[in-house]
Amino acid sequence: MENINWKELSFGYMKTDYNVRCYYRDGKWGELEVSSSEEIPIHMAATCLHYGQEGFEGLKAFRGKDGKVRVFRMDENAKRLASTAHGIMMAEFPIEKFREAVAKVIRLNQRFIPPYGTGASLYLRPLLIGTGAQVGVKPATEYLFVVFVTPVGPYFKGGFTTNPYVITRKYDRSAPLGTGIYKVGGNYAASMRAHSEACHGGEYACEFYLDAKEKHYIDEAGAANFFGIKNNTYITPKSTSILPSITNKSLMQLAEHLGMKTERRPIPIEELETFEEAGACGTAAVISPIQRIDDLDNNKSYVISKDGQPGPWCKKLYTALQQIQYGEAEDVFGWCDIIDL
Ligand code: PLP
Ligand code: COI
Repeated sequence: MENINWKELSFGYMKTDYNVRCYYRDGKWGELEVSSSEEIPIHMAATCLHYGQEGFEGLKAFRGKDGKVRVFRMDENAKRLASTAHGIMMAEFPIEKFREAVAKVIRLNQRFIPPYGTGASLYLRPLLIGTGAQVGVKPATEYLFVVFVTPVGPYFKGGFTTNPYVITRKYDRSAPLGTGIYKVGGNYAASMRAHSEACHGGEYACEFYLDAKEKHYIDEAGAANFFGIKNNTYITPKSTSILPSITNKSLMQLAEHLGMKTERRPIPIEELETFEEAGACGTAAVISPIQRIDDLDNNKSYVISKDGQPGPWCKKLYTALQQIQYGEAEDVFGWCDIIDL
């Protein structure tokens, strides 16, 4: 694909050659099917359209230094999709089929896997939707799994550079015992107005939500988890309303591997003052180091990076993660699957 400017890619949709689909009918999943259509013909009474019975995932494939293509932690995404499916009563897509679909869609679209050294990667977006017709509020009896790919660059402006964030109190993205732990579209619909109002047309990279019950603890950003670093310790929120991020879980393991302590516990908002470094993390975001978090309701700005640069631990973690993903360092935790092209 000579005419793609890989280094300038943003996080957006680009048409690729094929997607892989699988239908659930009569109580069972069918065979994987390959499609070159970008469209899904759908019943107007499908539960995904009316009642938000849909979940999705996000994972990445990387072309490595050795030319091999690695997918990062696909089993974790497969398991989280199964958890989402269970959470909103959809048919669970089997882990092994998920692995097959991921390998197939990468193989079929290999000309879209960004070259090594460009900083770009191939983003995979699996979807699971209720396609069966219902008018009453109840689960569909038919489902569709689709996975498509698109080459992407950084999610937040500048990639690995610090950005300002803002706290929002006006809206919650999910309730304490709601769907925040699942990757369902409704959580993202709930974040759109909050994002638009809080981020003032791009002045802030993203909004941070507080826990919905007490509005006192940091939950997460609209599309990424939060972590803070101080006293050689990596600290990330424990909450019943945030997405269990696979990147965050991996960074915790890397942090320990690099000699840090880790804690998962509630983080009261005042504690922001004490962090030496902080970041937003996720598949799309990777690590987006935080410059400051503004609490506009209280006229307060928690400045994390005094010089506006990513801190040493953020750099180390980011490098260690990317080196595993691009095959530059040994995959000591067995996180990557190499795809036979
Ligand atoms: N939190 C939210 C709300 C997200 O949408 C994402 C993205 O998937 C994350 C956190 C990060 O999760 P992961 O690291 O598994 O991509
Ligand atoms: C991801 O990081 O994969 C996400 O899904 C975040 C966002 C694009 C919704």
